[in-house]
Amino acid sequence: MDVSKLMFREGLMDGERILVTGGGTGLGKEMSEAFLKLGATVYICGRRQNKLDDCVAELTGKHGGKMAGFACDIRDPDAIHTMVDKIWADGGALTGVVNNAAGNFISRTEDLSVNAFNAISDIVFRGTFYVTLDIGKRLIAEKKKASFLSILTTWVWSGSAFVVPSAMSKTAIHAMTQSLATEWGRYGLRFNAINPGLFPTKGMSARLHPSGAGGNSGNNLNPMGRAGEMHELANLAVFLMGPGAEYVNGQTLAIDGAGYQANGGTFYPMLEGLGDAEWEQMRAMIKGTNAKDKADRATG
Ligand code: HXC
Repeated sequence: MDVSKLMFREGLMDGERILVTGGGTGLGKEMSEAFLKLGATVYICGRRQNKLDDCVAELTGKHGGKMAGFACDIRDPDAIHTMVDKIWADGGALTGVVNNAAGNFISRTEDLSVNAFNAISDIVFRGTFYVTLDIGKRLIAEKKKASFLSILTTWVWSGSAFVVPSAMSKTAIHAMTQSLATEWGRYGLRFNAINPGLFPTKGMSARLHPSGAGGNSGNNLNPMGRAGEMHELANLAVFLMGPGAEYVNGQTLAIDGAGYQANGGTFYPMLEGLGDAEWEQMRAMIKGTNAKDKADRATG
C-alpha cells in the first residue's frame, strides 16, 4: 500500500490496541499496516506463524511501532481464549477488533459436501462470533470501550450464487453487527462492517477466479471501471476504528465503486454459463491451492 495516501495525521491511533484476524496476509495485512503507521499497537493472528512473523518483520521494519503475531485458528474457541489472554497480558484491553479472517471458494452449491460448507462457515460464521464473544465479555467486565469492525461483502444484501456458504455466513455477521451495535452499545462497544468490492489479493484470486476468468475480476463490473486501491480501504477502516467517529454504530458500508448498485456485486453474471468440465477444472485448481496452503501450515 502507498501509505502516503493515508488521509489521517501521524499519531492518530496512539494508544489504540487492535487485533486484526487474518492480519498476516491480504486485506488484513493492508489494514494492519495503516493502523501501525498511525501509531496503534497491532496484533495479528492467522494459522501460519511463519506468515505472521514475516508480516510483523516487514511492517515494523518499514514503520517501527509495536506489533505481534499469534498463530491461532479462529475455528477453535480455546485457541482464541489463549491468544486473547496473551494479548491482555501484553498491555491490557484491546480497543479494537477487526474480524477479517475468512475462507471462501467458488462452487456450484450442488457440488458441495457438508465438510465443504463447514470449512467456510466454521471460519466466517462461527469463528468470527467466537472472537467477538471472547473479547466482548472481557471488555464488558472491565468496562472498556472498543470498536469492532467486520469485513463482509455486498452479498449480505443481495445473496450470491456460487459462493453460498460465504454469503450465508457473512450475512449472519451482518446481523451480528446490527444486533450487537444495539445490545452492547450501552457498554461503549460499537460494531460496524465494511463490504469491499474488488480489491485483488492472492488468496481471493486463487479461490474466486482460479482460471483467471470468472469471479468479479472484470473491471467493467463497476461504474468506476477499476479495482479498489488498498489505501482506500485502509482509510475507511481507520475512520471506523480510530478516535473521532464513535457515533457511527451498526453500519455496514460498501466500498466498491458502486458495483453493488450497478450489478449486485455478485459472481452470477460471470459464472452462470460454465459447464461441468469448467467447474471440474476450477475445483481442481482451488483444491491444489488449498493443499499447498495446508502443507505450508504444517511446516510453518
Ligand atoms: C467444492 C471443495 C472445493 C471446491 C474444497 N472443497 N474446495 N468443494 N469445490 N472448489 C471441499 C473439500 O472437498 C472438502 O470436503 C472441504 O471442502 C474442505 O476442504 P479442505 O481442502 O480440507 O479445506 P480447508 O483447507 O479446511 O479449507 C478451505 C478454506 C481454505 C477454508 C476455504 O481455502 C482457506 O483456509 N482459505 C483462506 C483464504 C481464502 O479462502 N481467501 C479467500 C477469501 S475471499 P470433503 O467432503 O471432500 O472432505 C472472501 C470473500 C471475497 O472471503 C469477496 C469478494 C468480493
